[in-house]
Amino acid sequence: MTEAQPSPSAADLRGLFPHDFVWGVATSAYQIEGAVLADGRAASIWDTFCREPGRVANGDNGDVACDHYHRWAEDIGLLADLGVAAYRFSVAWPRVMPSGTGRVNRRGLDFYDRLVDGLLEHGIAPTVNLYHWDLPQALQDRGGWANPSIVGWFGDYAAAVAGRLGDRVTSWMTLNEPQVFTFLGHATGEHAPGLRDWPTALIAAHHALAAHAAAARAIRASAQAPRIGIAIDVTHAVPATDRDEDRQATALWCAARHGWFLDPLFGRGYPSLALEAHAAAGHLERLVLGEVPNGELDYLGINYYFRQTISARPTEPLRPFIEPPARAELTEMGWHVDPGGLALVLRDLHERYAPADTVVTENGAAYPDRPPRRPAGQVDDADRRSYLARHVLALADARAAGVPVSGYHVWSLLDNFEWSSGYGRRFGIVHVDFASQRRQPKASFDWYRQLIRG
Ligand code: FCB
Repeated sequence: MTEAQPSPSAADLRGLFPHDFVWGVATSAYQIEGAVLADGRAASIWDTFCREPGRVANGDNGDVACDHYHRWAEDIGLLADLGVAAYRFSVAWPRVMPSGTGRVNRRGLDFYDRLVDGLLEHGIAPTVNLYHWDLPQALQDRGGWANPSIVGWFGDYAAAVAGRLGDRVTSWMTLNEPQVFTFLGHATGEHAPGLRDWPTALIAAHHALAAHAAAARAIRASAQAPRIGIAIDVTHAVPATDRDEDRQATALWCAARHGWFLDPLFGRGYPSLALEAHAAAGHLERLVLGEVPNGELDYLGINYYFRQTISARPTEPLRPFIEPPARAELTEMGWHVDPGGLALVLRDLHERYAPADTVVTENGAAYPDRPPRRPAGQVDDADRRSYLARHVLALADARAAGVPVSGYHVWSLLDNFEWSSGYGRRFGIVHVDFASQRRQPKASFDWYRQLIRG
């Protein structure tokens, strides 16, 4: 159900940001590239996961996706038309190192080389994200993120990519949403590799933090003047009532979710609240708690989408009830729209951690777009436009309150493969007809272009 609220105009919004504010869009390799067998790419854990019955809606997979691997030049044309200053994409590890380690596949790197040059020719700064969940299956066969060797494997992979692109790319991201790929991948089973074991998930998370540090070192060793960040998914979590138990449940939820990564990244080790809860649940039995390295972030990337309303579940403190209140405005994902939450989250993170800089690395929404009318019709996605406008306004509020935020990225440029929801959920500001691969900018694209171009 949606309760549309008035949204500010693009022109009004533009005036709230300085000229050098970085407007961008984001995508990820497995969600758009397709071409899973091209030029020596090997399987990732998502290729495997998609083939397991019942994992992904409609049995969808990323075999073709948006065929961006072949249509990258057309897609750069869309970016240039949009006028973005930055484009955040991810590199597919199984293209660059098909076995995950050892031999580097030059043809895989060639693709990203062409992409980077194409972007730079149009004055668009590439932000290279090294990991958006597509672990080489060969590494999963050796334990994946649960194997301590992954720290070195990831460092070597980062060195290979930075060695090739680091003369032209300055903006880097090590990992996208480690909370999602470690916890949803290893504890709740919703994402690849689909495991359901908390002790394994916490070990995977521990290795992910160390892998971030190893990759950052490798990038600094070979890229020129790099700016290195990581993208953490943060929700606006609020207690369902004023009762102590709901407040405590919310505090634990935040500590065990994004706090589990942010506290160590800012040099504080794991949050004790969550550590105690995991210990009580018997989840720490196999975790060797060595020192967790500081993240040394040049910027903190924040992916923000929705609000979570939390009620205590006394029998399982780490798994509270999360349900939006009646009459909440929801997207097609069932996510509770809360633009003001973005400002609150940014202020809270600023107060807690004082990152040197913050970039909103993802924000966007899925709505049941009506297909465009042929030939020249357009998807009139007023709901997405309103969602984006209200979040950009909240971002302006956060900046006015003194939070340093230097950039904002819409998720996503193209409708794409939305993980376990398959192609049934569309986040793009460009409509993609997956049968013909025809791209058609939606009304939200025109709105964003107007905002960017002032
Ligand atoms: C984020 C992911 C991104 C996309 C959006 C909708 O959690 O990073 O790949 O799926 O959600």
